[in-house]
Order: sequence, then C-alpha cells, then structure tokens
Amino acid sequence: MHPILAADLSNVDVLLEKTRHHAVQALGTLQDRPAALAPRPFQLKRLPDEARGLQAALDEFTERWSPGFSGSAGPRYLGFVTGGATPASVAGDWLTSVYDQNPTAGIDSSAPDLERETVRQLADLFGIGADHNGVLVSGATMSNFVGLAIGREWLGELRGIRVSDVGVSELGKAHVISGTPHSSIYKALSMLGIGRKAVHKIPTLQSREAVDIAALENALEGLVGESVIVVASAGTVNTVDFDDLIAIAKLKERYTFWLHVDAAFGAFAALSPADAHLTKGLDQADSICIDLHKWLNVPYDSAVQFSKRRDLQTRIFMNASAYLGMPGDNPDFVHLTPENSRRLRAMATWFSLNAYGRAGHAEIVERNIRLARDLGDRIARETRLKLLAPTRLNVVCFTLADNPNEARVNAYAKEIRDLGVVFITTTVHAGTWGLRVAFCNWRTSAADVEMIAASLVTALRFDQVPVATT
Ligand SMILES: Cc1ncc(COP(=O)(O)O)c(C=O)c1O
Repeated sequence: MHPILAADLSNVDVLLEKTRHHAVQALGTLQDRPAALAPRPFQLKRLPDEARGLQAALDEFTERWSPGFSGSAGPRYLGFVTGGATPASVAGDWLTSVYDQNPTAGIDSSAPDLERETVRQLADLFGIGADHNGVLVSGATMSNFVGLAIGREWLGELRGIRVSDVGVSELGKAHVISGTPHSSIYKALSMLGIGRKAVHKIPTLQSREAVDIAALENALEGLVGESVIVVASAGTVNTVDFDDLIAIAKLKERYTFWLHVDAAFGAFAALSPADAHLTKGLDQADSICIDLHKWLNVPYDSAVQFSKRRDLQTRIFMNASAYLGMPGDNPDFVHLTPENSRRLRAMATWFSLNAYGRAGHAEIVERNIRLARDLGDRIARETRLKLLAPTRLNVVCFTLADNPNEARVNAYAKEIRDLGVVFITTTVHAGTWGLRVAFCNWRTSAADVEMIAASLVTALRFDQVPVATT
C-alpha cells in the first residue's frame, strides 16, 4: 500500500473527526451562507503527481471550493424544486459510503432488502398499494424515463412484439398525450427513440395547467387503435396544478393507453390532510415518478419509480449474464433500471423515514405549504409585483407588475440572487416571464419568509439601473 494511503488508514479516526468537524461547521452556518452566488472565475488545477493524503485534500477543498458553494441545502434556496437534507438523511448518506454496498445483486448481503423495505415504506407514505413495485433511481428524470420505457414495452405487447428485443422501429409511431408535461418527459422520449415530437399537448382548463378531461377524451377518441401513453401531472412546476387522476384513470375503461403519472414533488400533497385529495387516484397509474431529493429532503441523488408491470420492466432492463443470474420472481435491482453497479442510495431515505416517520415528514410538507401561501399573500399586496397564479401548494409564481419582459425579469432575478438572502428561478408561465419561489426545504421558517419578502422588495431596485428592454 502507498505509505500515504496507509497513513490515512491508520489515522482514519482523526481524519474523519476533522471531516465531521468541517461538516458540523458547514451545517451550523448554512443559514449565513449566501443562498446562491455568481460562479467565480476559477483556474483549473492539474492532477497532483504525488500523494498528499486526506488532510491536504480537505484543506484545499475548504480554501478553494467551499466558499463558492451555495446554501442550496439551506432554508432560503427556493429555486428550481430543491430540498435540503434532514440530519438523519445526512447520516444515512455518510454510512452509505462507509458500507459501500452495491445493491445490484442479491447473493452477497441483505443490502438490497433495505432498499425493498424503503420502497414499501415510501409506498405506504403515498398510499400506493401492493400492485405496484418500486425501485430507487437517481432522480425524477430517470424515474420518468423508466416509467415511459415500461409503457413503450407495453405498447409492444399490445401488438405482439417485444420492443426490448426487436427495437422501437417495429413498434411504429407512438403518441404521448399530456396537458402540461415536465421538460424531462421530452428528454425521456428522446432517449427512448419515441421522440420529442410524439407529444401532443392537450388543452388545459381555463387559466389552469390541469388537463381538460373532455379534451383529453377527445384526443383519445381520435387515436383509437394507435399506440398511446397518457402522461398525467401531479404537481406542475410553475403552479403545482394537478390533473384529475381519478377521471383520467376512469378513461381506461373505454380507451387503451398506458398511464404514467409524474408526481415528482406533488405526491407529497398526500401527507397534508387538507391537500391529500389532489393525489387521489395516484395508485391507479401504471407507472409513477416521485422524487426524493426534493420534498423528502434527502441528499442528491434519489427518486423512486413505481410500476405495475415488473415483468415488462425486467424484459427491458435485464442484464443477462452468467455471473449476474437471470431475473426471478423477485428480480435483483440490476434488472430493473438502466444502472448496473450503484450505491445503496435508499439508505438516506430509510434513515429519514425511520427517524421522523410519517408525522415528521408531514410537518415539513404542511409548514412549507403554509409558508408558500403566506408569501403569496404578501406578493399579492405588493403593487410592484403580481401573482401569475394562485398559490395552490408550495410554489409561488409571480412577476413584475410593470412590463415583465425577459430582460427585466432576468435582471430582477439576478439582483435577488446577488443580495444573497434567497435564491429563486425564472420561468415563463402562460407566455409571461416570471419567477417561482418553491418551498421544499425542511428548515424554512416564518422568519425566513419575512427575510425573503423583504429581499424581494429590496431587489426591485434593479429597475434603477437601465437595462436593455426587448
Ligand atoms: C414535475 C417534475 N418532473 C420531473 C422533474 C425532474 O427532476 P430531476 O431533476 O430530479 O430529474 C422535476 C424537477 O423539478 C419536476 O418538477
């Protein structure tokens, strides 16, 4: 063994204690770190030739990299749809690396069963029944990809072919119909050879992002005999609108289609008794996507994918080899997703679910919803801003009252970021440039909302410097 590696091994308790100290410092000062900051110019450093040991790497990281990192795990990073990491999930994540299990195959340890237990606990959390099996993937995009892949295989089954064997060209054209699909749906369809242009956007209800069920039925009527996947949204990114999942599932009695639900973060409405009705019908979907690194507040990267057709799933993702074995009734994870070897990412979720239970996680969700509505009310009262939609759940979608063009909205967003108090991201909603404040973080409090509201007002000074208008 190289002497520096050997020294690190014999000194591992001291070195990990120093790392723990760094971590505790970072967590303890998270609320003081800028929510986000402009990336700094950096100088690429060459690979060191000589070994220096963990202490040197930790020192260099602390000096060169850590100051430029955002407070994305903190209470006021509300851009995109971003969760933090609960204490238990951080501990679970650390131990994932310590044990370094590969849950791919089930012949060498009980690690894969920890993932199976986690998936069942998640199913309970969201009211998903025993008809569905689940597996952990790296994020909602991957979960959507796997769900749509199973849908594609099912379309082949209807035509008596195995797409996984003969290829997508034998399937012919597939149609994907949806009201307000997330951009990751298009990406998944591109990867699946179905193609981005397979998406038919169906009209939504007036001033809503939820699909118009009559229009959806009309589209299904026009596609009888064709290969059809319906992608329903349970929580759109801009306004957190929900398709009527029960009505869509009911259409399956009269039309033939695969029903995939993208519930990346909307599934968590099931934890709030006042909002749980929004997720009714979720478990009637053929495949479901739910992110974990968003509203469950576990570290990246983690999502769960549920489906009712594990047999089709294993056909697609089977990695048939003498050394891995063939998939049986309880297939190893290697046969269920694009990944082969991977980390036991379920540990972070298992720790958080078993530390805080349903009640702990429900409290986060309910508090986030309450805080979002409070901020929405404050924005509605500020005459220089205007809401682009009512605050349905945990995202406030708003814009500048005066001339909200791309340049002005981007200048405002940059000013907000540079103040360092809160980070939010821009969007276009119903053709208008705006901004989204997405509440998902387990730490965010009423005091944070005070600071956020004040910062959104201060940042209106962006207007005092001339900006290009379009
Ligand atoms: C509804 C929805 N689907 C999918 C995604 C993609 O998630 P990920 O970045 O985890 O792949 C997001 C991310 O915001 C989302 O909001």
